[in-house]
Amino acid sequence: MPPVWQTNNVKIVRWITGCGGPIYGEIMALRTILEFPDPRLRTRARPVTEFNAALGKLIEDLLETMYAAPGIGLAATQIDVHQRVIVIDVSDARTEPLALINPEILAREGEESTEEGCLSVPGVYDDVKRAARIRVRSQDPGGATLERDYDGLLAVCIQHEMDHLEGKLFVDYLSDLKRERIRKKLEKERKERSGRAAVGAAGAHRAL
Ligand code: NI
Repeated sequence: MPPVWQTNNVKIVRWITGCGGPIYGEIMALRTILEFPDPRLRTRARPVTEFNAALGKLIEDLLETMYAAPGIGLAATQIDVHQRVIVIDVSDARTEPLALINPEILAREGEESTEEGCLSVPGVYDDVKRAARIRVRSQDPGGATLERDYDGLLAVCIQHEMDHLEGKLFVDYLSDLKRERIRKKLEKERKERSGRAAVGAAGAHRAL
């Protein structure tokens, strides 16, 4: 993993190229993650119809942005791209990236409450009830359709990311009072950190 420097909104990954190259061979700008209550997070995403190189690049950007944040899931909506694409990696080693295109929930079973967080609502965690097991139809980056059952953290994460594609955030499941408190807290933190170089990571919690 190359070193990651985080500035206010732009996360930059730099690495040193081989002999004879410039010191910083390439500077890759990761995508900016929109934060609540940004109205663009309320956009409903459109289905992906073309499984081309641009889609591959979008998935790469999403994964890199998610890993750098760090988070365990990211929806295209969160980087202001309104296409039905989500990426997830719930593995401890961060080596099992999953990209679901045009995901649809075919069946839900059971109910489970899990403490959730979100890269678009930094530093906020609360319990959300969701289906414990889901059957999902989606497409892979090549356009092939697959149907699979998911449970545990993966099921929670898929439902959370799919909400993003509908313009919905996990704080929408909380009371109006709580959501308003969160909005004010984030606003205050944004003011405090503007002008400062570093932004703290999500800490021990996992953000989706
Ligand atoms: Ni999220």
